[in-house]
Amino acid sequence: MSLTRRDLLRSTGLLAGGTLLAADAGRAQPAPVAVAAPADEPADLLDYARLAPAHMSAIGWEYMSGGAADELSLRWNRESYDRIRLRPRVLVDVSRLDTRVTLFGRELPFPILLAPAAYHKLAHPEGEVATARGAAAAGALLVVSTSATMTLEEVAQAATGPLWFQLYVQRERTLTLSLVRRAEAAGYQALVVTVDTPVLGPRYRETRSRFALPPGVERANLKGLATATGGQRHTEASIYSALLDPKLTWDEIAWLRGETKLPLLLKGIMTGDDAARAVEVGAAGLIVSNHGGRNLDTLPATIDALPEVAARVAGRIPVLVDGGIRRGTDVLKAIAFGASAVLIGRPYLYGLAVGGAPGVTRVVNILRREFEMAMALTGRTTVAQIDPGVIWK
Ligand code: FNR
Ligand code: LAC
Repeated sequence: MSLTRRDLLRSTGLLAGGTLLAADAGRAQPAPVAVAAPADEPADLLDYARLAPAHMSAIGWEYMSGGAADELSLRWNRESYDRIRLRPRVLVDVSRLDTRVTLFGRELPFPILLAPAAYHKLAHPEGEVATARGAAAAGALLVVSTSATMTLEEVAQAATGPLWFQLYVQRERTLTLSLVRRAEAAGYQALVVTVDTPVLGPRYRETRSRFALPPGVERANLKGLATATGGQRHTEASIYSALLDPKLTWDEIAWLRGETKLPLLLKGIMTGDDAARAVEVGAAGLIVSNHGGRNLDTLPATIDALPEVAARVAGRIPVLVDGGIRRGTDVLKAIAFGASAVLIGRPYLYGLAVGGAPGVTRVVNILRREFEMAMALTGRTTVAQIDPGVIWK
């Protein structure tokens, strides 16, 4: 990279404002002088998305922000939340709100988790370690990706908050098992097996930007494995990637279930039938996800898939959801539709790009605060009270 982060901040007019730089450098700055346009101060998650491209390489931005094919599912994930209206309840004492939830016997202060995402070093040189610090400072649980650019042990060492490990099942069972054992040894509290990606989808932003990992950025947990999302992939006739096992079926899930005591979540369940099967095979939890619109385009928005899954699961195991969550009201809506908690992906990556670890913290804090406001304004003081009655039918 020829530009330093300071150069980037200066070039985007953010340096003079102080706030972003202070967040970025993690040290005290002189009091801000009133020269920066206030519009450049990130107030909400959409501001972070707007600012992020100036803080990343073009390739990194295209990779992170993009979706598959026509990016319809990517768009629908958001649009569906926008279409859902809320039904308020007034004159409730909302002076004390309790946002705690319990998942797999552990209490979380609020039901917003950080979804697994590959290659954090494309957003910030401090990569997943910075994300883990930022998440911990906000009190948020982080799901670390198999495709992290730092080892799962490095991340665990830096983290003071809870971690789950996202597993891409490998073609070699021994390699899969070694990832599981490493995650167990490093103190990860659950395994999230991603099941919606036997192959990737067609991602033309990556193709057009000739996406490849820059020198020095690698999949640290899988050293030696051929680059899966590298430039090569797009010139090859094959749709298969070395990272992913296209032979993965329910049999491997059952096998994995017997190999570890960690709670096993399946990520990428979109239908009631698959959800029922997941419960049968012993999954401890599910994540309704269309992979942020990055794989199979024209899948419905996840908030539209959630009710069917929640109905079939019928409370037997927790159902989580991700995709398009950008507002506290989105979190409230997801819970009203049957989710125990939600995960965010791109928003915290953009926070990381714009402000390093403190940027991640701030993104979580903003969303958490919006969620509290949504609870208070709908007259709900606990997460359990967020029932379907909160939706305007
Ligand atoms: C992802 N996602 C993802 N999922 C996963 O199981 N393993 C992974 O390595 C990745 N990598 C990844 C990289 C990037 C850049 C993005 C944006 C997403 C999907 C992720 O966990 C989650 O499902 C979506 O990001 C949720 O949608 P939003 O919040 O980004 O709209
Ligand atoms: C993604 C992967 C690798 O880019 O999960 O979405």
